Amino acid sequence: MGGTVFLNGEFMPRSRARISPDDRGFLFGDGLYEVTPAYGGRFLALDRHLARLQRGTKELRMAFPQGLEELHRELLRRNDLEDEEMSIVYLQVTRGTAPRTHHFPDPSVPATVYAWARAFERPTREAWEKGFSAVSVVDRRWARADLKTIQLLPQVLAQQDAREGGATDALLVRDGLALEGAHNNVFFVFGDTLATHPASNQILPGITREIVLGLARENGIPVKERPVSLAEAHQAAEIFFTGTTTEVRPTVRLDGRPVGEGTVGPLTRRLQTAFLARVSRECGAAVT
Ligand code: PDD
Repeated sequence: MGGTVFLNGEFMPRSRARISPDDRGFLFGDGLYEVTPAYGGRFLALDRHLARLQRGTKELRMAFPQGLEELHRELLRRNDLEDEEMSIVYLQVTRGTAPRTHHFPDPSVPATVYAWARAFERPTREAWEKGFSAVSVVDRRWARADLKTIQLLPQVLAQQDAREGGATDALLVRDGLALEGAHNNVFFVFGDTLATHPASNQILPGITREIVLGLARENGIPVKERPVSLAEAHQAAEIFFTGTTTEVRPTVRLDGRPVGEGTVGPLTRRLQTAFLARVSRECGAAVT
């Protein structure tokens, strides 16, 4: 992977980017990240992504770097992504480089800020129409899943389980409840009502989740933010995952069994259409 990346105040070729082995991100996973989408070179909800990062830095008592909005735009420019149908910017902030101690560096050190951008290939219309599959996996994460920390080992293992099970997504289950995906949120349809786990310390408050909840309300689709058990999930008429790189992704098989009719359902279809219309409007790009 080439391209121009940003590291600690400088743009440089990826091959030149170096961090210290004593970076606290490397040693402790002591950091946060964001992934923000752009369509036709315009960001979708960049302000909300940065607000989530800012909240994370506050919760973890880390510095919140300045100039992140301009940094995002500059990365698209320098990587010639302004005309791409879809691209993503990855941003990571760690507590910086210091001799290894569990407590915070004292005196404090500058944060490490690393970011890159690349084109993102959306699934074809045919793949979307066919639908995707998911498997349920035990959620082994810590008690602050609401923070987008770079400690992703449980998600890595869950996603690998999904892959080995021939599925696209991992449905994380804790105490019998189907919480979210390894890198996306999840929605279920029961009757005419949409259900998704309420925002809590057990899930990441996804920006796409928030947008989809808003679209459901605007379209008169009843929504309940409530815990959903795995047993209920197996009875859902429709299931879809949402996320920056997931958009609105229909799940037509869960744990090897068909979801509803085993085809993409009508509410999923309506919300995907509404989501792409919102993207097209906000980003001024015709996204279908
Ligand atoms: N993942 N839940 C988890 C655990 C996530 O990691 C993500 C995002 C989401 C969806 O959030 P959003 O709609 O704001 O992207 C939900 C990013 C994209 C990733 O890890 O690559």
